[in-house]
Amino acid sequence: MKIVAKNIVKDYPGCRALDHVSLELESGKVYALLGKNGSGKSTFVKIFAGVIQPTSGELFIDDERVDFKTPGDAHEKGIATIYQEMSLIPGLTVAENIFLNRMPKKGRMIDWKRAYRDADELLKTMGVKIDSHEVVQNLSMWQRQIVEITKAISYSPRMLMLDEPTSSLAQGEVQHLLEFVKTLKERNIIVIYITHKLQEIHHVADDIIVLRDGQFIGQRHLEELNNKDIINMMFGQVSIRKRPEDVVPGREIIMSVKNLTQKRTFTDISFDLYKGEVLGIAGMLGSGRTELLRAIFGADKFQTGTIEIEGCRVTKLDPIHMIEAGVGLTPEERKTQGVILIHSVRDNLNYASIRDNIKYKILEDKKKRNRNAKEQIESLQIKVPGLDSPCSTLSGGNQQKVVVGNWLSTKPKIMMYDEPSRGIDVNAKQQIFEIMWEESKMGVSSIFVSTELEELLEVCNRILIMCQGRLVGEVDPDRCSVDELYACCMSGVIPDQIAYRR
Ligand SMILES: Nc1ncnc2c1ncn2[C@@H]1O[C@H](COP(=O)(O)OP(=O)(O)OP(=O)(O)O)[C@@H](O)[C@H]1O
Ligand SMILES: [Mg+2]
Repeated sequence: MKIVAKNIVKDYPGCRALDHVSLELESGKVYALLGKNGSGKSTFVKIFAGVIQPTSGELFIDDERVDFKTPGDAHEKGIATIYQEMSLIPGLTVAENIFLNRMPKKGRMIDWKRAYRDADELLKTMGVKIDSHEVVQNLSMWQRQIVEITKAISYSPRMLMLDEPTSSLAQGEVQHLLEFVKTLKERNIIVIYITHKLQEIHHVADDIIVLRDGQFIGQRHLEELNNKDIINMMFGQVSIRKRPEDVVPGREIIMSVKNLTQKRTFTDISFDLYKGEVLGIAGMLGSGRTELLRAIFGADKFQTGTIEIEGCRVTKLDPIHMIEAGVGLTPEERKTQGVILIHSVRDNLNYASIRDNIKYKILEDKKKRNRNAKEQIESLQIKVPGLDSPCSTLSGGNQQKVVVGNWLSTKPKIMMYDEPSRGIDVNAKQQIFEIMWEESKMGVSSIFVSTELEELLEVCNRILIMCQGRLVGEVDPDRCSVDELYACCMSGVIPDQIAYRR
């Protein structure tokens, strides 16, 4: 099969998301679709999926002109899409999810036996060991992602598009998924794979296609390029900086967490955070990192333990008092906890600091609000159509920057970041790291949770390891490799030579 796009343009009010993009795709190849945040990748996918229509331009499948008015039209032509947000129903079994809305029937009754047999068969041809009787919520994230792909494959698509399929997976899980995507090539399917993690594309892709600000920059064989070439295609020239030497924590303890226990999630957690320190927390999915941050922030209750900030025990443990005490938290779940999608960019950049913007006790200071939003947009280089545009019109990565900007405007003393770089491009990540380092020089401390271990090693002064709800030790990022850090998270054992020494 051959798919051709000719001069695709997509205009949104105030923004040209795709600007005369033309390209050719052939079956049996994996194409990595790359580009910085807001460059038009998801828009491109949505056009092929029939979710939105192009303003102008043409699509051809095997030289036949096609016009997708609805997702159903694209489906009929054999195009399947996997989005970052999963669409499986957690309470149903694997087989029920795969055959949702089209369960095999015997007369007027559902043929359950056949449903499970067929689902098992499909999963087997996929080369994975997942029981079709299993309820989806009991599966790990990568298994769910594979069930999602299996479901897509069961329609025998000729093209499969994956929009950031690994952004909510842990390191080990990503490996499984990548192996699996490779096998799709043998089925003669065209695969389009969107990711911001460059190390992934070397495992799966044949060709890369780069977009920048809606423009087609190039399509090249991966083997001709190194990472630097790819980054240059994506951004023009950028420089990636290492942690500057002068980012060093002070000797003063800013926060002391003592014996914190929350039933069933974490037990007896104690650590000190130093002034100006960038402290990482590493651990596998489910090790209790997010829950710990939420508890420290007062968003969830814990049973025993105390928190001291600058030597004073915190007695009112709720987010409002924590913000007053100078603590901020950028939450992990962008769409449900980070931004209010239907509200404007301006409002979303001001919610966390809303109390600082009150004039005469009741009026919100509009000038201050505008100024603050503009400042954050500039310093984080957020790409927005306008201050009044709803957050839902921003690309995924730019929404993430709004989450971070919102919390930075509270001017915290302690900033906790939960997976801040999820879905953002290499350059935007660097901007967030630079902010941590800059703030650190001004005495602001950061706690940084990330599933991407390279990132933790790059950014932090010290890394705590959490394993099954316990703090098992501390690692010195300057003496530790990614593999060693991964092993620590898995086993909960920290070898002497990489342990942190003060
Ligand atoms: N419904 C919409 N209304 C207005 N503008 C939109 C809408 N949807 C997307 N855009 C704009 O189109 C541009 C391209 O967005 P798109 O989501 O395709 O980017 P992307 O390459 O997928 O980025 P990311 O890596 O951040 O996911 C962005 O500038 C975005 O703000
Ligand atoms: Mg996107």
